[in-house]
Amino acid sequence: MKKVKVELGSRSYEVRVGADLLARTGLWLKEMGLSGKAAIITDTTVKGLYVDALIRGLESAGFDTAVLEVPAGEEQKSLETAGRLYSELSGAYAERTTPVLALGGGVIGDLAGFVAATYMRGVPLIQIPTTLLAQVDSSIGGKTAVDHGQVKNMIGVFYQPMMVIADVETLKTLPEVELTSGMAEVIKHAAISSSKFFEFLDDNLERVGAFHEGVLEKMVLESVRIKAGVVEKDEKEAGLRAILNYGHTVGHAIEAASDFRLKHGQAVAIGMMAEAKISNRMGILGDGDVIRLEKVIRKAGLPVEMPDLDKEKVIQSMKHDKKVAQEKIRFVLLKSVGNVFITNEVSPSLVEEVLFGRE
Ligand SMILES: NC(=O)c1ccc[n+]([C@@H]2O[C@H](COP(=O)([O-])OP(=O)(O)OC[C@H]3O[C@@H](n4cnc5c(N)ncnc54)[C@H](O)[C@@H]3O)[C@@H](O)[C@H]2O)c1
Repeated sequence: MKKVKVELGSRSYEVRVGADLLARTGLWLKEMGLSGKAAIITDTTVKGLYVDALIRGLESAGFDTAVLEVPAGEEQKSLETAGRLYSELSGAYAERTTPVLALGGGVIGDLAGFVAATYMRGVPLIQIPTTLLAQVDSSIGGKTAVDHGQVKNMIGVFYQPMMVIADVETLKTLPEVELTSGMAEVIKHAAISSSKFFEFLDDNLERVGAFHEGVLEKMVLESVRIKAGVVEKDEKEAGLRAILNYGHTVGHAIEAASDFRLKHGQAVAIGMMAEAKISNRMGILGDGDVIRLEKVIRKAGLPVEMPDLDKEKVIQSMKHDKKVAQEKIRFVLLKSVGNVFITNEVSPSLVEEVLFGRE
């Protein structure tokens, strides 16, 4: 098991990455001074797979556990479900010191994180991510939220967990499409800050599909280190944290324009490729790096080509995205693999040309 510390002063915490960690969680909670009750929030699928191992460890460390279950799916990231969870926590006599354990993917992490941040003005939160996306991205950094109306993550709060426990063994039961989708964020982390990690991915991606434990552990660990490093410098996204949006300006727009037919990771992969081409056309990113990126994205089983989407819909959603500052679309672009910069100075005609070709 390896540890990465997220240094945020009094809100610092550890991310523990390795195999067979679920059963050890109870002991670690006890070591952090927690005791009494523990409330696990999970979805139906993950509950069937992993809750027993977690409960065993918690009970042998003396915890009295309650399991709060929600159906799987983004629709559960709502105020309505949060409301139901508050009632269930209260019904289970959860107190201000009762830890909430978010066991599941990014949906559970965001929802349970939001509930933990707001129930009784905040109770201890432990993130136990079980998807690749959640292990390398959403469980780290303290962003919690629920969706509202048509707007994703509209209601939320920054709330750091007390610990993140990323058990790579849990990735073995992930549907392939979820694993592949999560790879987009791993590639993004390498592309924005480490040419060496990018090279590792290029050399080892074939082994991810075969669930090579060492490769998965290294991939999660390096990603966590990169994300933690960014979050430490800019916890509340005042500036630098925006670099984590590489591939997301175009990615979010095509995800929305496809009516969410494309998975987030697929849209981000296409977005990373498009944004690399924009930088290349601006004379900044070299041809060799564009080729390198394309090769790695393809190897991960992710798409690189723009799908057939309504042009106006894509452009409009890009303009409506929160990454627009003073009418200008903000892009995170690569200088080279491992180096990024943020700019508002990309001409709209270049964006259209790269995405849709010449009229
Ligand atoms: N807070 C952040 O910083 C942040 C960052 C990125 C994304 N997000 C959020 O994350 C969410 C997406 O997360 P996700 O992609 O993990 O989706 P998800 O939580 O919906 O999980 C995907 C599916 O996999 C299943 N699953 C989870 N773990 C499993 C396992 N080990 N084995 C088998 N099945 C398993 C789930 O039941 C679900 O059906 C979105 O709501 C997004 O907004 C948040």
